[in-house]
Amino acid sequence: MDIFRTKSVEQSIRDTEAPEHQLRKRLNAVDLTVFGIGVIVGTGIFVLTGQVAKEMAGPAVAISFVVAAVVCGLAALCYAEFASTIPVAGSAYTFAFATLGEFPAWIIGWDLVLEMALAAAVVAVGWSGYFSSLMSSIGVNLPASIAGDDPVVNLPAMVIVLILTAVLIAGIKLSSRVNLTIVVIKVAVILLVIVAGLFFVKAANYTPFIPAPESTPTVEGVQAPLIQVLFGITPVAFGVLGVFSAAAIVFFAFIGFDIVATAAEETIEPQRDVPRGIIGSLAICTILYVAVSLVVVGMQHYTELSSSAPLADAFTAVGQSWAATLISIGAIAGLTTVVMILMLGQTRVLFAMCRDGLLPRPLARVNPTTGTPAVLTAIVGVVAAVLAGFISLGALAELVNIGTLFAFVVVSAGVIILRRTRPELERAFRAPGVPVLPILAVLACLYLMLNLPVETWLRFVIWMAVGAVLYFLYGRRHSRAGQVV
Ligand code: ALA
Repeated sequence: MDIFRTKSVEQSIRDTEAPEHQLRKRLNAVDLTVFGIGVIVGTGIFVLTGQVAKEMAGPAVAISFVVAAVVCGLAALCYAEFASTIPVAGSAYTFAFATLGEFPAWIIGWDLVLEMALAAAVVAVGWSGYFSSLMSSIGVNLPASIAGDDPVVNLPAMVIVLILTAVLIAGIKLSSRVNLTIVVIKVAVILLVIVAGLFFVKAANYTPFIPAPESTPTVEGVQAPLIQVLFGITPVAFGVLGVFSAAAIVFFAFIGFDIVATAAEETIEPQRDVPRGIIGSLAICTILYVAVSLVVVGMQHYTELSSSAPLADAFTAVGQSWAATLISIGAIAGLTTVVMILMLGQTRVLFAMCRDGLLPRPLARVNPTTGTPAVLTAIVGVVAAVLAGFISLGALAELVNIGTLFAFVVVSAGVIILRRTRPELERAFRAPGVPVLPILAVLACLYLMLNLPVETWLRFVIWMAVGAVLYFLYGRRHSRAGQVV
């Protein structure tokens, strides 16, 4: 069937002229780990920790981080094999086209929009929370209608996305030195939270560590986790079930390691260093996340944590506004690069889809002055800005998570399929324990997906259905794979 037509590996290699070349260098495990921490540490730890502790898990949010980390670890090994099988920079989309076929590739590409453009919006909302917190620490209180916990329109988030869009269109790249500097600042701020925060921890705040299950408005109606509905449980937040629902949300904090995997080909010894880089950045992030969340829920009772800038606000609450100011400045710097890398990643995937004819080719035209796909970047930027301005952070993050987990399911299953259908392909990195490990990864990702709210599932299904319709109306007929004789 033509919808499963593939693009040969050789063709993929010929076609792929990565629009950006900042990773074109020889990387080792340390470089990959730094890059990983640069993309991974963001709104997840800086904002969701507070929201999730407050609404879903209580102090046990630390356990949720561990659960999410284990799921990511399994998927990461599959991702590393997936990304190293074809020596082409880029995404799961390119890989899927070369191996699984055009329609699965389209579905993954369409799904990655949920991961990257939406995640950029989420991180921008997090950025805005810390920006407002910083402003108020210097005595400028932004109106509640444009910033803070529940604004009508989140203006700072929209503005930062549009500024970064302009930066990307202009072709300004993040040099690895700038990236390293920002990673150092970000990690320093996190360590500051852990070390300085310890002095303000009160043991009483840890009781109850896992609050008793409770039917709260957070899990009412379509907001109930699908798994609880399927099993006929009256939906609850908190309790052990709440810890798992929370894991499905804080999963967001680990997103980005898959972007590390796409640098496999630029690594000197991928077989050794890609898994080290991925597992290394995941392990470091997990330790930091667990420590930060334990400290923050110890500083303030979980019911009192702030939803927009919990790490900084916890210090304000204990009278240490100097620390709050430093944390906000670090968060603002750190989150800026995360938004930028996510938007760049999104543009790359869409660029490849346009080049293949699955989306209109003129959209991917490279602007002769700037040398960047200006139209595409502007579209990504405007969409992300509007989402960041008007949709709540929690709802957006859940949609990002379901999209990303779905991509991980396909990637993990793809590893098993490819070992059978294309055993001869050279794999720079081979995941251990195939097929058991990928099967566990698929099951673990599906389990987390089921812990997301019914509403998120509905949005996800609608998004994918729209994608399928678009493919049959447009992509299938315009695909270049269909025109190659
Ligand atoms: N993992 C990234 C974050 O937490 C996307 O912001």
